[in-house]
Amino acid sequence: MKKFCLILFGPPGSGKGTQAKLLRQHLNWPHISTGDMLREHVQAQDELGREIADIMQAGLLVPDELVNRLVEERIARPDCENGFILDGYPRTVPQAKMVLNLLDRKGFGPVVAYLKVDYNKVVARLTGRRLCPQCGALYSLASNAPTISQICDYDGARLIVRDDDREEVIRARLEAYERQTMPVIEYFREASVALYEIDADGSPNAVRARICMVIPACRKEVAPAAGLGLQ
Ligand code: AP5
Ligand code: MG
Repeated sequence: MKKFCLILFGPPGSGKGTQAKLLRQHLNWPHISTGDMLREHVQAQDELGREIADIMQAGLLVPDELVNRLVEERIARPDCENGFILDGYPRTVPQAKMVLNLLDRKGFGPVVAYLKVDYNKVVARLTGRRLCPQCGALYSLASNAPTISQICDYDGARLIVRDDDREEVIRARLEAYERQTMPVIEYFREASVALYEIDADGSPNAVRARICMVIPACRKEVAPAAGLGLQ
């Protein structure tokens, strides 16, 4: 059977991270988020982290060569052998070229879930996002608030606001998305990549069910457990 990798594509706040966390449990595939990997370097204040901290603070994209290298190294690990979920990558045409080439060499067929959600909704989601610095759990003040205000339900850690979730930085990230990331859609279409537009409005579970419909391995495994009437 052909091996697949799922590419979660969409603007900041469209729910890529939320969906990756839901789907990885069912698919048993690692969740590869370039944003998370880059933030780890910034937090560690290592050489790479120091190089990219200002870029990320400003809501701009980190250079392609650097992100491509991180992803190539990560995909080479044994846990990616059967499939993996890419979140927030590729987001420029050069990144898309590099990853399609790499996937082809490794015998993977990419399936792109393009999460579409209204501009005003993504802004509202990002300003209301809270994050557990210990376990990475994501909360939303509007739709998925923690039981005790500002405290993670799972480990009791105090929730934080991501540095780039300030209003002016959100605007810069959305501009970078429009200018540099949107053209990747056209590139995928020209390369005949399996690309599915997913309505990313609705509850996270409803969105997950829509994504599952387009991934063969996922469709089989999730349908009974989710009780969503999928075939
Ligand atoms: P990255 O970390 O990838 O951020 P992003 O793309 O801006 O996306 P977000 O993580 O903000 O949103 P998301 O789509 O994951 O939504 P989430 O599930 O959290 O990148 C950060 C930075 O790193 C970039 O700006 C750049 O500098 C750098 N970078 C990363 N990758 C790079 C690359 N490839 N090349 C170059 N630079 C790169 O959800 C958001 C909120 O909404 C949460 O509160 C959540 O609870 C809520 N929510 C989710 N789904 C729903 C729903 N269905 N209904 C209601 N609320 C929902
Ligand atoms: Mg994310």
